[in-house]
Amino acid sequence: MEEGMEYDIAIVGGGPGGYVAAIRAAQLGAKVALVEKERLGGTCLNRGCIPTKALARSAEAFHEVKVAQDFGVETSTVAINFPQIIARKNSVVNALVGSIEQLMRAGGIKVYDGLGRLTSPRTIKVDEEEVKAKRIILATGSVPARIPVPGLDLPGVVTSNEILDIAEFPSSLVIIGGGIIGVEFASIFGVLGSKVAIVEMLPQIMPPVDDEISRRFGQVLRSQGVEVHTGAAVKMVQGESPNLEVVFDTAKGEKTVTGEMVLVAVGRSPYTEGLGLAEIGMKMNRRAVAVNEYLETNIPGVYAIGDAIGGIMLAHVASYEGEIAVANALGGEQRVDYRVVPNGIFTYPEIAGVGMMEKEVRDAEIPYKISRFPFSALGRAQVMGETTGTVKLICNAETGKVLGMHIMGPHATDLVQEGALAMQLGATAEDISHTIHSHPTLPEAIMEAALGQGLGSIHLRKI
Ligand code: NAI
Repeated sequence: MEEGMEYDIAIVGGGPGGYVAAIRAAQLGAKVALVEKERLGGTCLNRGCIPTKALARSAEAFHEVKVAQDFGVETSTVAINFPQIIARKNSVVNALVGSIEQLMRAGGIKVYDGLGRLTSPRTIKVDEEEVKAKRIILATGSVPARIPVPGLDLPGVVTSNEILDIAEFPSSLVIIGGGIIGVEFASIFGVLGSKVAIVEMLPQIMPPVDDEISRRFGQVLRSQGVEVHTGAAVKMVQGESPNLEVVFDTAKGEKTVTGEMVLVAVGRSPYTEGLGLAEIGMKMNRRAVAVNEYLETNIPGVYAIGDAIGGIMLAHVASYEGEIAVANALGGEQRVDYRVVPNGIFTYPEIAGVGMMEKEVRDAEIPYKISRFPFSALGRAQVMGETTGTVKLICNAETGKVLGMHIMGPHATDLVQEGALAMQLGATAEDISHTIHSHPTLPEAIMEAALGQGLGSIHLRKI
């Protein structure tokens, strides 16, 4: 671009918040710049959603071959080739990063390769270059949170970033933090054959999940051989790999679990330091950039989206926010609406939810009815040999409208979208059950749960 020219929108951060915003802005005819210090795709594509799901797919393939005999398929020895698992994960990531690079070129979006710092509300400095724009969107994401526990710098103690590129498969893994990242890695490494232990501070694992599902999943994890310690406050990590010791306090006193590797997964913090924000007077909520319901910061013309603003730290929320921020940056007046945000946890079996949890409905004193349908009663799940889990549907007892849907079971992360659409359209359980569901498929479990709100599920004896 010629000297002195100004972009309509410049975006800092090329993750699922930033790159989606860039494409959206280009579609709307804006002149767009995107600044990225590493690779396009951000955490989600390079160190999060996609690489972990690639690893989970390898774990699933391994599991399927191991149980192949149950399906009448004879196999000889089954073993994992860990370097090949990592290589496949890398090739999936590389292909997707390449696609985003192509999308940027196709959209005429200028990508600046470097760390962007705001030097004014209209200027971003990328190394020695100045990028000027009428509007700026901050989409800088997040980094693994740190906790002040001694021993976390020992060799063999890793975050969710490093564990994606380890050279050797650990025979045992202790995971500090039983949140989403913790349980996803517990499933992956557990299925691949590591001895896994989770150490979680709270009384229950996976805090953002419906209590009932979280409790049931805890049982499933234990039955898969994962050791789960809850109400466990980690004091220190000591020793040397392969005998790293994680020491923690419980109500019953001090305990220790030993592992070859320790994964620290205690949350993520917005990445907002060193970007010139304080210098230009940006209002913050601790580490997160403070925004209003139009996603604008206290500095007019500067917007922020995604993990950088805290809130719901999910890739698809960042992308949604990207679209809203772009619309507003170009003169619109769109408010964010977080009522329908599906979430998916890629464990074995999968977990997903949308809308209110049972506890939230109870606390809000909304009249509600719960219906459940177990996958064990579903033809397709029997065919697949994947019968663990349930669909739990929460509806308004007066209007029948869907308030929440929580699923543990095969393809839960795909299935939950039916609940999201129902909620978005204000549909009732009857709307769902009157919609013909094709047979034999997994979504029939949702139809059956919806029938349970009325006369009753068809394939479930009333108790
Ligand atoms: P998280 O907030 O989900 O869980 C962190 C867990 O660590 C909490 O249960 C917390 O109680 C525990 N913890 C904190 N300090 C501890 C200590 N000293 N000792 C023991 N336990 C401790 O954070 P997580 O799992 O690191 O994930 C970060 C973010 O990434 C989340 O916002 C999550 O939603 C997102 N994410 C989403 C995924 C998905 O949607 N499938 C997958 C992975 C991450």
